[in-house]
Amino acid sequence: MTNKKREKLISKYQLQEQIPRHIGIIMDGNGRWAQNKHLPRIAGHRAGAESVRTIVRLCGELGVQALTLYAFSMENWRRPNQEVQFLMRLLKKYLRQELKELNRNNVRLKTIGKIQLLPNSVQQELHYATQQTAHNKGLTLVLALSYSARVDLIDAFKKIEAEVQKGTLRAETINEPTIQNFLSTAELPEVDLIIRTSGEMRVSNFLLWELAYAELYFTPTLWPDFREQELIQSIQAFQCRNRRFGGLKNVRGVQ
Ligand code: FPP
Repeated sequence: MTNKKREKLISKYQLQEQIPRHIGIIMDGNGRWAQNKHLPRIAGHRAGAESVRTIVRLCGELGVQALTLYAFSMENWRRPNQEVQFLMRLLKKYLRQELKELNRNNVRLKTIGKIQLLPNSVQQELHYATQQTAHNKGLTLVLALSYSARVDLIDAFKKIEAEVQKGTLRAETINEPTIQNFLSTAELPEVDLIIRTSGEMRVSNFLLWELAYAELYFTPTLWPDFREQELIQSIQAFQCRNRRFGGLKNVRGVQ
C-alpha cells in the first residue's frame, strides 16, 4: 500500500494521522453470534475467521505496524475436544487460503504462545507461512496461540535467571527493557490499543505486561460482526483519548 492510498483511506474514514502502532484484539463472541442465529458454535468461529481476514487487510492498509490476535488462549484447551479440533482445522485452512493474500499485502506472520502444544500439522503450517512471509515489511500479524501472558512472563523470568547464573547479566541492572527484551513480543512496537469484543470487560491473560499504557476499547459487538466500520470506530475512539502516560502532557500527541 502506497502512502497516497493510505492518506486517501485516512481521509475517507475521517481519521487523524496517528494510527495506533500496535493493536491487540481479544476476539470474543463467536459462540453467542452462532447461538443468536440458532447455528452450531463452529459456524460462529467460521464467521469469525472472515472478520480476521477483513481486519488484517484494513490494518495493513491503514499502516498499523502490528496486529496481535488472541486466537487461542491456554485456557481454551479446556473446551470440548470437538471444538478444539475444529478451531485447529480452521486455523490451518486460514493459513493455506490466506498465504497468497498475506504476501500480496506485504503482511509478515508471527506467532506467540506455546506453539509446541499445537498439533504437528498446525505447527508445520504455521512454520511454513511464517517462513514464506518473513521478508514482508508491512503489517506484522501476530497470532497468539496456546498463549498465556503469565506463562510468557514466567518464561522471561527464567531466561533472565539463566543469564544471571551464567554471569552475562547482573541482577542489579534488570529494568523494564530487560523484561521486555525477554518476552515473546520483544521485537514488536508498543501496544497502543487493546480491543475486546462481545461486551466482556476483562483482559483474560492477554499481553499483561505490554498493555501497561494501552488504551482499552470494549464493544458489545460480537467478533463475527466486527468489520471495517467497527475497527474505524475503535481507532477514532483511540484518537479522541488524551494519552498522558502518567505525566501532564499528551506525550505522543494523540488528540
Ligand atoms: C472466542 O469466542 C473466540 C475464540 C476462542 C477463537 C477465536 C477464533 C477465531 C476468531 C477464528 C479463527 C481464527 C483465525 C486466526 C483464523 P467464543 O467461542 O468464546 O464466544 P462465546 O464467548 O460467545 O462463546
